[in-house]
Amino acid sequence: MAPEPVVTRPVRDAQVAMYHRARRTLPGGANSNFRAWGEDTIYVDRGKGGRVWDLDGNEYIDLRMGYGPVILGHADERVDDYVNERMRRGVSFSLTSEDEVRAMELLVELTGWVEMARMTVSGTEATMHAMRVARAYTGRDKIVKFEGQYHGVHDYALISVLPNDVADLGDADSPVRLAWGRGIPGPVAETIIPARYNNLEMLRRLFERQGEEIAAIIVEPVLGNAQGIMPRPGFHQAMRALTEEFGILLIFDEVKTGFRFARGGAAEYFGIRPDLATYAKAMGNGYPAAAFGGRREIMSLLPDKVSHGGTYAGNRVAAAAAVKTLEIIRDTPALETIRATGERIQAGIRQVLDAKGIPYQVTGHPAMFGIMFTDRTPSEYRDWATTDHALYDAIAVGMHARGAMPEPDSREPWFVCEAHARGDTVDRVVSIFADAFHAALEARAHGAGAVAAASGAAGAAAG
Ligand SMILES: Cc1ncc(COP(=O)(O)O)c(C=O)c1O
Repeated sequence: MAPEPVVTRPVRDAQVAMYHRARRTLPGGANSNFRAWGEDTIYVDRGKGGRVWDLDGNEYIDLRMGYGPVILGHADERVDDYVNERMRRGVSFSLTSEDEVRAMELLVELTGWVEMARMTVSGTEATMHAMRVARAYTGRDKIVKFEGQYHGVHDYALISVLPNDVADLGDADSPVRLAWGRGIPGPVAETIIPARYNNLEMLRRLFERQGEEIAAIIVEPVLGNAQGIMPRPGFHQAMRALTEEFGILLIFDEVKTGFRFARGGAAEYFGIRPDLATYAKAMGNGYPAAAFGGRREIMSLLPDKVSHGGTYAGNRVAAAAAVKTLEIIRDTPALETIRATGERIQAGIRQVLDAKGIPYQVTGHPAMFGIMFTDRTPSEYRDWATTDHALYDAIAVGMHARGAMPEPDSREPWFVCEAHARGDTVDRVVSIFADAFHAALEARAHGAGAVAAASGAAGAAAG
């Protein structure tokens, strides 16, 4: 007889009650589709450092970190004290404060190539404005984006994002524009051209055919919603050269990678000078700070020729959070600590997996990495489908039951924060992973449905 599934779920009484209460008012019981997991929806009480507590009092090592923004740790006193002090002067004036100027000066200093930037409230607004300014600068309408990349929830971004069935993306040689959900006007979708990450031949063919209509390529430097799949060596350099050859702008969407991969983000990490970039997440340690910026010549189309506004753009809370977070990133070894912590977790996981001889790939950067069960190096979103994601999902659910919280979806990477370096967090993550992995293998060996059924993922997660 197959043994009982080893995964025992944490107490969820208060959260299930909250779900039934919340869904009467909030569709799906949450404020984002990505957090609406039916009766498994997690309702949070609080976080501190690298830990989070749900409404039932269960404690977890948090490996989601809010989908990436919380780079230092939850409720970081350095940031919170500064924000508190600044916000007592009032938060919203529709006038410009020094905090906003300082925040963008820091962004310019840390990136080293951005010459001018403007704040927005979300990454979505940042990518929307970057696309608009690229269109304005080039006088062209079309934007190329890569399959499996998420750039936020505006209509131009929701094309060929994260289908569960990669066959929906169409033929590998001629991908289709796959709108995510209803309500995206056809003519809007028509302006977006899907391409395949890491596929330079396809890009060249596309540029030769349609280059004169294309304003920009927007690219997440790594596949931030597919376990951080990395570029092949030279991919970004070749793409940069191609865009220059055809007069097409290169937009780096650094919403996840900015101020995480390096002080100057993925542009610094990969040695690329894009034309425009977008930032959010790590720049505010969880406060709603975001920005788009780039070359002076392009950004100078604002304010006269390109629209950008927003009542809350540059609000005091976000600007102060950005100032303090960016100062910490600049002045302390926070990113080095995060990198070393991520490397320690990765090494522990490799040891566990190697001992069982299961084929796997550790993808991404130590500050934001994933584990894919496959013997092939994945190079694009379509490759996710060929990995053993049922095994991954079972491990994620098993970890959750044991006190660590990665995203319950095999696409979303783990995020490491500075506070994870403290205490025994690294060892605990590795031992929880090991226990969950062994339990998942055992359940699978006995044909228990627990492995696949344990997923609970409501679709890929992004924000
Ligand atoms: C690469 C990337 N771009 C843009 C966004 C959208 O940012 P926001 O959720 O702040 O609107 C996200 C969110 O996860 C993202 O990962």
